[in-house]
Amino acid sequence: MSILCYEITGDAIPNPRSTTGAEDGHVGAVLKGDHAAASAQVYSELVANRLAMFLGIPVVVGVPARRPGDRSVRFAALRAADADLEVYDFTDDDRSDPDAIDADERKLPKGVYRHAGHVRQMAALCEKYPLESAAIAVFDLWICNQDRALNFKAELSAEGRGVIFALDQGSALLSCRSSVNESLDQLGNYDSPSFHPFQRLVNARYAGAMVERICSMPEWAILAAATYGDTVGNVTLDEQYATYAALIDRKQALGRLVDRVLL
Ligand SMILES: Nc1ncnc2c1ncn2[C@@H]1O[C@H](COP(=O)(O)OP(=O)(O)OP(=O)(O)O)[C@@H](O)[C@H]1O
Ligand SMILES: [Mg+2]
Repeated sequence: MSILCYEITGDAIPNPRSTTGAEDGHVGAVLKGDHAAASAQVYSELVANRLAMFLGIPVVVGVPARRPGDRSVRFAALRAADADLEVYDFTDDDRSDPDAIDADERKLPKGVYRHAGHVRQMAALCEKYPLESAAIAVFDLWICNQDRALNFKAELSAEGRGVIFALDQGSALLSCRSSVNESLDQLGNYDSPSFHPFQRLVNARYAGAMVERICSMPEWAILAAATYGDTVGNVTLDEQYATYAALIDRKQALGRLVDRVLL
């Protein structure tokens, strides 16, 4: 896969202390906060991002962010510089005629996910990016992501390697339900999520390899991603440790969940 760059916005000025030409500049971001429908969104995005970085899952990088003088923490998902790429926007609604299922689409495996549209393009994506699509799908099942549909983009027509990236893990972990308690209950449900946009399209061997990669992830790395020594947005330390424990437990159930949902 080609390297994904983020978008530099506005002008940059020379950094006065730099001896190597560094500049002070700005990078675009989508700023997300805790919300009535996702009361632990900032924490969940942050943890999912750190886990994804460790595992090599292609999600956009995000960081905790705040305005000077404002104590409330946001999650800043750095904006991908996709304007010059021929990216197919799976985050947009599929405006094609739902009745016009073409011959190619009819040949797809039984049980592919059709509710978010883009069906033929999703199949093309899984064919062009078999490693990445399997990695994203297995990761989503581990973190109990309920909302991967419409939350990724990819170059489909590019010759050569191209880019694929997922975004928005704001409906996973402690925000897989609207409240933290309901989310913790849901993390303990090893039948959830019950579907995924890449279901029946992922390569079984690559999905199995990703299960192994997650299962062999050291506990210290999961602990470092899930706990912060302070509240993060609405999430207390107790709840952070509970998330860590839930992730460890979900590792044990991951193989069966992958078999059931993806293959
Ligand atoms: N890092 C990013 N780079 C490029 N585009 C982005 C990025 N983050 C978000 N977007 C765009 O902004 C839209 C909204 O962002 P996001 O999905 O994170 O918000 P949301 O509140 O969770 O929305 P929804 O609930 O509809 O999924 C995305 O669908 C995508 O089109
Ligand atoms: Mg979204």
